[in-house]
Amino acid sequence: MKVIRNIKKIKTILSKARSEGRTIGIVPTMGALHQGHLSLIRRARHDNDLVVVSIFVNPVQFGPKEDFKKYPRDLKKDALACRKEGVDIIFYPPVKEMYPSGFRTYVEVEGLSTVLCGASRPGHFKGVATVVAKLFNIILPSRAYFGQKDAQQAIIIKKMSSDLNMPVEIKILPIVREKDGLAMSSRNVYLNKEERANAVILSQALAKAKKMFHSGKNSREVILAVSGMIKEKKGAKIDYICAVDPQGLGPVKNVKNSILLLLAVKFGKTRLIDNIIIHGKKN
Ligand code: PAF
Repeated sequence: MKVIRNIKKIKTILSKARSEGRTIGIVPTMGALHQGHLSLIRRARHDNDLVVVSIFVNPVQFGPKEDFKKYPRDLKKDALACRKEGVDIIFYPPVKEMYPSGFRTYVEVEGLSTVLCGASRPGHFKGVATVVAKLFNIILPSRAYFGQKDAQQAIIIKKMSSDLNMPVEIKILPIVREKDGLAMSSRNVYLNKEERANAVILSQALAKAKKMFHSGKNSREVILAVSGMIKEKKGAKIDYICAVDPQGLGPVKNVKNSILLLLAVKFGKTRLIDNIIIHGKKN
């Protein structure tokens, strides 16, 4: 396994691989790899001849008051995990390599990037779309792998690659959860013991929402019940709970085909997100 920090170098290696007809899968990450990331890497390993994991804490997707500086970084541990999963290349560029001075071009997926998490984190999805577009242009992957945990991000990346005719297949894989239901996230390490215990309410609330939708309740009733459950937990501060259409993120009242219920809740200083897709027919 190689760790490459330089764009020119990785392009040369991958261009040779492509000329030999080898397929390339990319798993874009910000490091602090957990089982959720490993599930993406395993799938990429299964589907492709060559697997690239990018590890880049992208400053452009963090707001000025967010956790860019303290975001967990541990290349040694991540590299060990990648090696175990049979990753071929870790792309680990410095910030200056990705954003040299004079950088001015950004990608914005209008409408989708300013609602939900985009409303609470202005500029976040512009940063995500820009770095993912750059990674696609550098790596030119056959396939790219993302987690359903970041549902809005997944929708935005799919839309960007379709709108801009990017020749890459986007694969979205299911949320990986801790035994007690908490969705895996690199930010879970910020939670203290009490916050960690309380955070389990998120997956429990989503399970309750699924039952309620299937018993015929509408979005308003479900959201009211879900927020009631979450508010009972000490220190939980709801940012949003929304029921939307899984493609366009428009609001929906009832489950006809499917509904995406998303939430963002702060426990102390840590903002967690989670979601569930509920289908019209019982599943
Ligand atoms: O999901 C993440 O870790 C990041 O948003 C991504 C897609 C790697 C872009 O920086």
